[in-house]
Amino acid sequence: MNIHEFGFRGTSEIIATTTSKSGKPNAAPIGIISDGNLYARIYTNTQTYANVKTTKKLVANIVDDPLLFVLSAFMELPLEEFRMEDDVPVLKDAKAWVAFECSMEDHPERATVNLRPLRGKIIQRSIQPVNRGFNAVIEATIHATRYLAMKDPKYLRRIEHYEEIVRECGGRREKDAMRKLKEFLK
Ligand SMILES: Cc1cc2nc3c(=O)[nH]c(=O)nc-3n(C[C@H](O)[C@H](O)[C@H](O)COP(=O)(O)O)c2cc1C
Repeated sequence: MNIHEFGFRGTSEIIATTTSKSGKPNAAPIGIISDGNLYARIYTNTQTYANVKTTKKLVANIVDDPLLFVLSAFMELPLEEFRMEDDVPVLKDAKAWVAFECSMEDHPERATVNLRPLRGKIIQRSIQPVNRGFNAVIEATIHATRYLAMKDPKYLRRIEHYEEIVRECGGRREKDAMRKLKEFLK
């Protein structure tokens, strides 16, 4: 496997899949940072952090479904969304995935998780025209996670801005994702 084929640059938003000590799979959107090193900065109050701490493994799933970003940010994905690749969980809808071995540097709120590629696969190379609606869902979802954590109304105003872009430019999947996001904010 050549890690450069997967296109990580700057911060790439992926869905991280991990397993708990008891073997339960979990999924959550996480940014993978590539600046010469490859790492993630993960809040210590998340399930993803607890799982990586225990198993030292994380899979980056490259996904183009906006609804999966929203659902995995706010709820436990149903088991049927996962399949096992040897000992690691992968999302069934991933266009590509990379399994990493993780080493952790703990900081008070966010740990730096250094990522060493173990193996991976590109399943589908589909052409994706840039869609502002898709990008707007991702931005709105980040602000929604911040709103739920901090309750600062400035995040709600930002979400409204992105909602307008989804209305104008999004396809059906983006509109469904935005509708779902609003439900999680209620
Ligand atoms: C696009 C996107 C990127 C995110 N990136 C990160 C990240 O890099 N680190 C992090 O700790 N949380 C990040 N989050 C927030 C987590 O996904 C969120 O806290 C999630 O609920 C954690 O789920 P878990 O408790 O199942 O791990 C991101 C959210 C979104 C929508």
